[in-house]
Amino acid sequence: MIDESRVGAGALAAAGVPAERVLAEVRQLRVADRPTHGGRLFAYVYDPAVPGLDELAAAAHQESAHVNGLDPTAFPSLLAMENALVGAAGRVLGGGPGTTAPDVVGSVTSGGTESLILAVKTARDAHPEIAAPRIVVPSSAHAAFAKAAHYLRVALDVVPVHPDTLRPDPAALAAAIRPETVLVACSAPSYAHGVVDPVAEIAAAAADAGVRCHVDACFGGWTLPYLRRLGEPVPAFDFAVPGVTSISVDLHKYAYAPKGVSVLLHRDAALRAPQYFAYADWPGYTMINPVIASTRSGGPIAAAYATLRHLGDDGYLRLAALTRDAVAGLADAVRAVDGLRLMAEPESTVVCFTATEGGPDLFVLVDELTARGWHTQPQLSYDGLPASVHLTVTAAVAPRVAEFGPDLTDAVAAATATGPVRLPAELASLVGTLTPEALTPELVVGLAAGLGLGGEPGAGGGSDAGPLPERMALVNTLLDVAPPALRERLLVEFVSLLQRPTWASS
Ligand SMILES: Cc1ncc(COP(=O)(O)O)c(C=O)c1O
Repeated sequence: MIDESRVGAGALAAAGVPAERVLAEVRQLRVADRPTHGGRLFAYVYDPAVPGLDELAAAAHQESAHVNGLDPTAFPSLLAMENALVGAAGRVLGGGPGTTAPDVVGSVTSGGTESLILAVKTARDAHPEIAAPRIVVPSSAHAAFAKAAHYLRVALDVVPVHPDTLRPDPAALAAAIRPETVLVACSAPSYAHGVVDPVAEIAAAAADAGVRCHVDACFGGWTLPYLRRLGEPVPAFDFAVPGVTSISVDLHKYAYAPKGVSVLLHRDAALRAPQYFAYADWPGYTMINPVIASTRSGGPIAAAYATLRHLGDDGYLRLAALTRDAVAGLADAVRAVDGLRLMAEPESTVVCFTATEGGPDLFVLVDELTARGWHTQPQLSYDGLPASVHLTVTAAVAPRVAEFGPDLTDAVAAATATGPVRLPAELASLVGTLTPEALTPELVVGLAAGLGLGGEPGAGGGSDAGPLPERMALVNTLLDVAPPALRERLLVEFVSLLQRPTWASS
């Protein structure tokens, strides 16, 4: 038995805690988490539901957890596995011997965000003569590009996507290229809606302007080629496309590796060169880093290596077929319900839907689905695009699909009966007039309390299971009426309320 009052308390116990008890604590903490397996969580996790794969990846992780990627000469095992992963990703994405991109090189990073930051850094540092560099991205590009621009002091030129196609107009992207532009980016596919941008036209426009073109295939880059092999009409998006200079693909997404592994590929070594950071001007070891982290655990790399080797090309093809069928089934379920419509016809592994005129309140619907054991991801309205519900579909969803339709119908009926969330008038007017600068700590604490956010578990604020209320519709409705800058600020404040140290230890 474990002492529940000590679970989650300060990690440094006065006297070491026996291994079994510590593990029991971890397991108890995990109970409050959303289910990572079972095919009912449509975001954050990627589950192939392959028996034994978790155990294999964990064993490989354990073999290499203490190996340090800082120095590939000290730990050649890691270099070998990293090169093998880059080779596999390069091959899946149209590069390598016998292709039109035989010289593809790359690096393993910790995730999509790191890959994108590095793609921007590499493009920026290729042009030291440009004092105020800029990048051009469609509005559907992942937020990590904005993060990269922010971290690297690169200006971000955002081109809106068309509200019907959810894709950018290549001519508009081309027109946004200026003399200071160092990179044009696009997605294959976009996270929010799962649509593939017109990569060929965008890359051609970038090449005409002499600018690099990055294809963010972090999300679906590992699946699209398999979907194509299964006969789906996947447009060209990889190194086969002239003008594409770099591509990112996350192995911890659809390559089904445990978290912490993405690959950033460049068409050739000269394009990659500015990615490296080197420093010898101190008394310690000369630091040569291809990626942002210096010390890097071998664990995720070994786990990804084991995952790829074990699943194999045929395994990924089979998993892509299962996923494609699950996507089709879920999309049919959405089409069958009055009051909902697909944001886009699925062309990858995302099903994204919104409400039609007179349809249910989507945020209430999301809560109703949660109550029925389906964890979906609400997306707020943005720049003329309506609020929507995002489903990231993985192979584990396939056996669950038949259960989704009836539950969706039920949930829509329940949400319609409940009606939309009505924001209390004072909250609505507050959010309508509030500017991010006017947000005081007191106001944030008051708002959080009013919304049931950030309470101690079991203390009446949040639910017993954690710091969020069981029903999120009120919070989502409030955020939905706030402009993006206020959303950002409110959520930063809420999250910082959650990030409080636990001091007690025993
Ligand atoms: C298209 C795309 N790019 C980048 C990222 C960022 O990846 P990560 O969360 O691994 O940093 C994501 C994550 O969902 C994504 O979908």
